[in-house]
Amino acid sequence: MNRFNFSSLLFLVAFSGSSVTCTQQTENNPSKTIERMGSENAGLFDENWLFSRFGLQANGSFLSEPEGLQNVETDDTSWRKLDLPHDWAIEGPFRIELKGETGKLPYKGIGWYRKHFNVPAADEGKQIFLDFDGAMAYAQIWLNGQFVGTWPYGYNSFRMDLTPFLRFGQENIVAVRLDTEKWESRWYPGAGIYRHVWMVKTGEVHVAHWGTRIATPKISDESALVNMDVSVENQKNDAVEAVVETCIFEFDANNQTGSEVVSLKQQTIKIEARQKVTTTAEATIKDPKRWDLDSPNRYLARTTIKVGGKVTDIYHTAFGVRTIEFTAQKGFLLNGRSVKIQGTCNHHDLGALGAAINTGALRRQLIILKEMGCNSLRTSHNPPAPELLELADQMGFLVWDEAFDCWQKGKREWDYNKLYKEWHEKDLKAMVHRDRNHPSVFIWSIGNEVMEQRNVEMTKHLAGIVRAEDPTRPVSNGYNDPDGAREAGAVEALDIMGVNYFFSQQPKWDADPRYSDKPTLGSETSSCISSRGEYYFDKEYQNWQVSSYDQSRPGWGCPPDEQFRINARFPHLLGEFVWTGFDYLGEPFPYNSDETNLLNFRNDPFKRAELEKKLEEIRKNNPPSRSSYFGIVDLCGFPKDRYYLYQSQWRPDFPVAHILPHWNWKERTGQIVPVHVYTSGTEAELFLNGKSMGRKVKKEGQDFRLVWDSVVYEPGIVKVVAYKNGSEWATDEMKTTGSTDKLQLSANRDAISPDGADLAFITVKVQDKDGLTVPGSRPLIRFEVEGPGEIVATDNGDPTCLTPFSSHEREAFNGMTLVIVKAAKRKSGSFKVKAISDGIKSGEVHIKIL
Ligand code: GAL
Repeated sequence: MNRFNFSSLLFLVAFSGSSVTCTQQTENNPSKTIERMGSENAGLFDENWLFSRFGLQANGSFLSEPEGLQNVETDDTSWRKLDLPHDWAIEGPFRIELKGETGKLPYKGIGWYRKHFNVPAADEGKQIFLDFDGAMAYAQIWLNGQFVGTWPYGYNSFRMDLTPFLRFGQENIVAVRLDTEKWESRWYPGAGIYRHVWMVKTGEVHVAHWGTRIATPKISDESALVNMDVSVENQKNDAVEAVVETCIFEFDANNQTGSEVVSLKQQTIKIEARQKVTTTAEATIKDPKRWDLDSPNRYLARTTIKVGGKVTDIYHTAFGVRTIEFTAQKGFLLNGRSVKIQGTCNHHDLGALGAAINTGALRRQLIILKEMGCNSLRTSHNPPAPELLELADQMGFLVWDEAFDCWQKGKREWDYNKLYKEWHEKDLKAMVHRDRNHPSVFIWSIGNEVMEQRNVEMTKHLAGIVRAEDPTRPVSNGYNDPDGAREAGAVEALDIMGVNYFFSQQPKWDADPRYSDKPTLGSETSSCISSRGEYYFDKEYQNWQVSSYDQSRPGWGCPPDEQFRINARFPHLLGEFVWTGFDYLGEPFPYNSDETNLLNFRNDPFKRAELEKKLEEIRKNNPPSRSSYFGIVDLCGFPKDRYYLYQSQWRPDFPVAHILPHWNWKERTGQIVPVHVYTSGTEAELFLNGKSMGRKVKKEGQDFRLVWDSVVYEPGIVKVVAYKNGSEWATDEMKTTGSTDKLQLSANRDAISPDGADLAFITVKVQDKDGLTVPGSRPLIRFEVEGPGEIVATDNGDPTCLTPFSSHEREAFNGMTLVIVKAAKRKSGSFKVKAISDGIKSGEVHIKIL
């Protein structure tokens, strides 16, 4: 598509050109692991911070904030010592009177962080920066009592230049003030410096922050043209001549460089004092290895800046060679191949770990999603942690990268609306600059269901900002008023129409000449709700839980099958992003006592009034619900039944057969228990205790589950045999279990590093003596660690459980519990994790320390 062909908007400033010899990759230095993109001289700045909380406290009391906490003299000896990333709200306690939409967690408050540190005298003359990957919210930063800067939007990454206030060779104190009292949200935002902080050191002439842009405008099997802009800043008070050299290497999924591929023409540029100059250079990669979903090959550009023969900065940029094309008729093409977007929307929290980023936890989530057949992620509704994009690049996911949940009109009083005027341009640019070299990022989104979605000027303005920074990817927006936005003409300013839920008008839009070339994507679909392991027969809701027959949804949503039918009816849709992959903290619809979802019916007064009435009822009862029911996977990472429905549709060649519900219905003996089967087969036969209950065939494009709705319950075994094109394809069975007998533990990893961050996720199953998980069982389980390990958090996937995540004791929820552990820092050996419960045999698992 022409519009996305890269065209350089910047001018070329090359005084001389000669080819570069890439000496970095020699026999002495054959392969390197590059942990982080950007300037090479960067280190984590996470350890040994001091923290104190003022304003609203966790228990609801108030502690007034003293003045001048940024000053050097502040006595911080009694402050709490901790390492980042840190989310001060996930510690809880859950408070029933707090809003369900923000997880009933006490995130509001004023947090101060201080860190004492030294920078060696030998660094004098260097530029010293702190790169914050994200701090919630309204960050203000001081160094040695001097104000350095601010970045209010908690989801963006930003850089602070410490150099002017730094004392080389002496103690320095950085102070950070965060204020979440001024931040409201429709979901759990987290609180604190919840992402990593890096200290970056460069020479005075260096690559600007996120100062590279790589595009590959011409790609064939034989060659790929690489077009690279490098912005170089001269922080000196004199003009300089700088030499810019870039070499390109192969780069694998473990971030290891391989052989050198090509070098860009060396350039010499003149940069005036305190100015920035951008150079452009090109090179051709021969026989390029494409970045794709199953083969996420990347390249690494290593840029060296030299002044007077001395290296002043080395800067790494990973990128991928792939083509993306979006058409209204043929859908989405990746590397020329048609790919349906099988995506999930996800909020940023990591369940029991809160908003505090942890790469291992995020990787685990993505492994679970990939296994389901998910190929795309939507970062609803804000820029993600940088690690998410890094993992998406490495693992082969496409990313819809989203900026905002609101523009000038807030959905909450203290929403982004308070920042829009002054910050929207800076925030959008920050997102695009940071993320534009990731091959995984394939669509930019300027918003989600914003109030001004019909506003043509604002849409044009925001899309324009994005395109000026990156013309190589399409711009979209998630609409819940797609008809209104099309009629108003706002959609004309976009490259792709993102539709949340409302597809009823699709034939009308397809017939509208203004939009016949506009590709449409389900930016949000389904919103099915369920509680893992709960099944009800004559109702959908009970005890603040939702039945897991996967048919419940809000008025604007639909069961997954219904969306599959829509997708089959409109095959030219690019695909869908399901709401949501994982359960998340906050927004516990249908027990959300707050007004979040009224917004979905802003143009339908009748439905709105109906929902308002329901909300009234819920408010009276003060539900304990604190996390969502929307996830295909629960908050612990345990798949709900729906997981297999998506897997059967998204991985048609993978043999899937999944039966629901479980088969422990003693109280329903002689009554009907409907049996549903999700399978990637074309037909299936169900057996109860060996007796056939009949064979059912899926109607193409119509049936996505097979239902036997007159099975009369008797204990024993219910079994399904699925067939594909006449041959046996997959089977599953559910057995009536005995009573609880033992606890069985299994870890997602049996060896972890003692780096303070690496985690093992241990699943605990409550089993009968034959090793079958006992449905409905909820024993209280106590966890103990023997050896150099620590319990980080526990969870059970129950959205109503108000036990703090830090508790070492927790009830199982429908036979399962999760315990997250880490190794004691810098220790070796191994440790044992034990699960103990009265009247049940204990279980244990050993974790080695790497
Ligand atoms: C959408 C909204 C999401 C979430 C979802 C729940 O309208 O964009 O953020 O609230 O509804 O169904």
